Amino acid sequence: MKKVVRKAVFPVAGLGTRFLPATKVSPKEMLPVVDKPLIQYALEEAVAAGIEVMVFIVGRSKGAILDHFDKAYELEAELANRGQAETLTIVQNIVPPHVTCVYIRQAEALGLGHAVACAKAVIGDEPFAVILADDMIDDEQSGCLAQMMRVFEDRQCSVLCVQTVQPSETGNYGIVAVSTVSDRLSKVDAIVEKPKPDQAPSNLAVIGRYILTPAIFDKLKVVPRGAGGEIQLTDAIAMLLADETVLAYEFEGQRYDCGSKLGYLAATVKQSLKHAELKEPFKKFLQALDLD
Ligand code: G1P
Repeated sequence: MKKVVRKAVFPVAGLGTRFLPATKVSPKEMLPVVDKPLIQYALEEAVAAGIEVMVFIVGRSKGAILDHFDKAYELEAELANRGQAETLTIVQNIVPPHVTCVYIRQAEALGLGHAVACAKAVIGDEPFAVILADDMIDDEQSGCLAQMMRVFEDRQCSVLCVQTVQPSETGNYGIVAVSTVSDRLSKVDAIVEKPKPDQAPSNLAVIGRYILTPAIFDKLKVVPRGAGGEIQLTDAIAMLLADETVLAYEFEGQRYDCGSKLGYLAATVKQSLKHAELKEPFKKFLQALDLD
């Protein structure tokens, strides 16, 4: 019988040091792009891909994420009193009724691999998705994860989302060496975390979307600490390659690295230019800018 991906893991325990002081109190995943926090874009992408159980791996001071996906009695009552029906609907429909949110506390920030390992009790023996909310992917068709789900449905193995990056940027990503399977799809032959450009096997980088088989949990249990002294998901995937096929999928759409200020600004500008109320006045504002 074909396996189905029903659960997604959102590692959201990171400190967000690149956005201090904005992230001193507020989680980086709550940074808004126009009027929605990054974590909501990520959840919506998962919902569009058919995910029903959202597993958030949270750290201390990430309470705002739990509150964002919870009911807000006072706010809802106040909006109802004021007759602001449209705004009330927006607030009440952040999480669709068929979706369950689960929160797991990651007590220590030991890396992405450790965060994913924390989800094991909830994931069990099923394939699952991992979404890194600071990689925001805009695809008007179906969403990046939905594209990857179609690959999984067909191939029934782990799928990594990849994108070509500048050779000078390999030190920021998991980098794969691949053999081409078909258009956009290749087989991962090797994967290495954040190699220097002269040691990188290619310039094909892993972006923050994964579909993984549960076999990854056994690898995460034994993988030694890697780059930055952290338990790296990349290293566990490298071990998985010895037992299973792992595919790399070049997604359709535009990715914004919202973990960087420039990427975050680009996402904000692009989303503003799509926003029903903002697009016209914002376009005018941009056109009137006297750049140097
Ligand atoms: C993480 C992963 C890396 C991946 C990247 C995608 O790195 O460790 O392999 O390429 O996400 O955004 P981070 O950005 O958390 O340093």
